[in-house]
Parts: sequence; C-alpha cells; structure tokens
Amino acid sequence: MSEKPFKGKVALVTGSARGIGRSIAEDLAEWGADQVILDMKQEDCDKTAQEISSEFAVKAVGVACNVTNKEQVGQAADKIKAEFGGLNFLVNNAGILRDNLLIRMKEEDWDIVMDVNLKGPFLVTQGMLRMLMKADGGGRIVNISSVSGLVGQAGQANYSSSKSGLIGFTKVVAREYASKGLLCNAICPGYVQTDLTGGLTEEVQQMLKESIPLGRAGKVEDISRVVRFLCSDDASFITGNVIRVDGGTAIGM
Ligand SMILES: NC(=O)c1ccc[n+]([C@@H]2O[C@H](COP(=O)([O-])OP(=O)(O)OC[C@H]3O[C@@H](n4cnc5c(N)ncnc54)[C@H](O)[C@@H]3O)[C@@H](O)[C@H]2O)c1
Repeated sequence: MSEKPFKGKVALVTGSARGIGRSIAEDLAEWGADQVILDMKQEDCDKTAQEISSEFAVKAVGVACNVTNKEQVGQAADKIKAEFGGLNFLVNNAGILRDNLLIRMKEEDWDIVMDVNLKGPFLVTQGMLRMLMKADGGGRIVNISSVSGLVGQAGQANYSSSKSGLIGFTKVVAREYASKGLLCNAICPGYVQTDLTGGLTEEVQQMLKESIPLGRAGKVEDISRVVRFLCSDDASFITGNVIRVDGGTAIGM
C-alpha cells in the first residue's frame, strides 16, 4: 500500500487492551490511524499503546476508563481532544459475559452486563459525538454486538438482551446523525476464541464450534477486518446495518 488510507485519522476502540478490540486497533493502525487504547487498567492500555505505536508507526495513547462511568468517559473525551484534536472512528467493543439460566440469574449479573454492554456504548457515543460529527469526510461508529443478540442464546438473558439493545441503538444513531455524514453500523460476531470465551467450559466451546457451518471458530482478524472495511471509503453508503460475521451460525437472521 503506497499511501495509508487512514493517515491523519484518529480511532478510539473501547476494550482494546486485548482480544477483538486489540485486533481492531491493530488493523486500523496498519492503515495509518492514530489510536486511543481505552480499557480498564492504565498499565494494560499503556502496554498495548506502546506495542501498537512501535509496530505500526502511529501515535497511540492509553486511556484508562470504565465505559459505565460518565465522568471517566468525559475525562477520556477531554484527553482525546487535547492529545489528537478530534476523533474519526469510534468502535464500541468493550463487553462482558455473566452467563446463567434465567431461573438462577442474579440481579447484579443482569445489571452489570446491561451497564457495560449497552449503557457503555450510550455514554461513550454521547461523549464522543461532537468530535465524530466534526470529523473530516464523515465520522464512523461500529458497535460490536453478537449473534447472541440476534438468536437469543440459552443462559444469556442478560447478554442477549444487551446485544439486541445495541442493535436498536445502532439504528437510532444511524438515523439521527446521517445528515451529519456520521455512519453507524453493528457487527454480530459468532464464536471467536478470546479470553472472554476461554472462560466457558470445554463442552460449551465444543458445542459452539460444532454449530458453525464453516466448521471453525472465528479469529479476531475475521472481525477486525470487517470493522476496518466499515471505516473505509468503500463503505460510505452503508449505515444502520447489522453484519453477521459468524461462519454462518445465524444464517437467516
Ligand atoms: N469472543 C466472542 O466469541 C464474541 C462473540 C460475539 C461478540 N463478542 C463481543 O466482542 C467484544 C470483545 O470481546 P472479546 O472476546 O475480545 O472479549 P475480551 O474479554 O477478550 O476483551 C474485552 C475487553 O474489554 C475490556 N472491558 C470490559 N469491561 C470494560 C469496561 N467497563 N470499560 C472498559 N473496558 C472494559 C476488558 O478489560 C477487555 O480488555 C465484546 O463486546 C463481546 O461481547 C465476542
């Protein structure tokens, strides 16, 4: 690639210290975008930012922030403004699982999953909106939902509800800010091997793999390449969409 397509752009990926979020930050950096590495712990953010900055020769800054905390999100926005002067891409990726059958699900497990997976994207999107609306050539938002939000997964009343909610949120943002040239889409990954799913039992992981028509688990790059496409000029007529990246798991949804 002679000229990097995202040179001069700034990307914020939430939950980007590891897993799918880190792969998204790397792919956007590979195309030249400067990075805000946002996650829970400053040391994790700094380590990832340092590694990405030296591998891809972009500016990368670590910002510790809990996406459920409005004040911390406001401080993150101030830091981005001060360090980079604006923001082009926001990827709402941070998410958690607290699985249990509905009959045993604790209220606190419902609340925390809704807070991180749905309220988090609301707070972060609202906090970054003014910068994204001003982004040269149009800002982009990509929300990482899940096939669980499409099909409803047993044991995931909290998670499936939060991820379905994120799809609704995506469509509202797409409609409200289309006139500002701000595009907003959602991706629904299927089963991807990360720390998040590493906590599931062997039996559940095997069952998930067997339910994938393409016959393999997803890799983090399967997701991050689609995010990169949605941030690119090639996707400039796509907004309010929900894209499954799941090896066929939820064909028909
Ligand atoms: N792995 C899968 O199979 C899969 C499938 C579908 C959807 N997803 C979604 O993809 C996203 C990334 O998942 P992953 O597998 O990479 O998970 P992961 O657990 O490996 O990484 C998630 C990151 O988010 C951070 N995070 C968690 N809560 C946070 C908070 N309150 N504030 C800021 N950061 C926070 C974590 O510290 C972590 O670094 C999640 O939204 C998840 O729901 C994953």
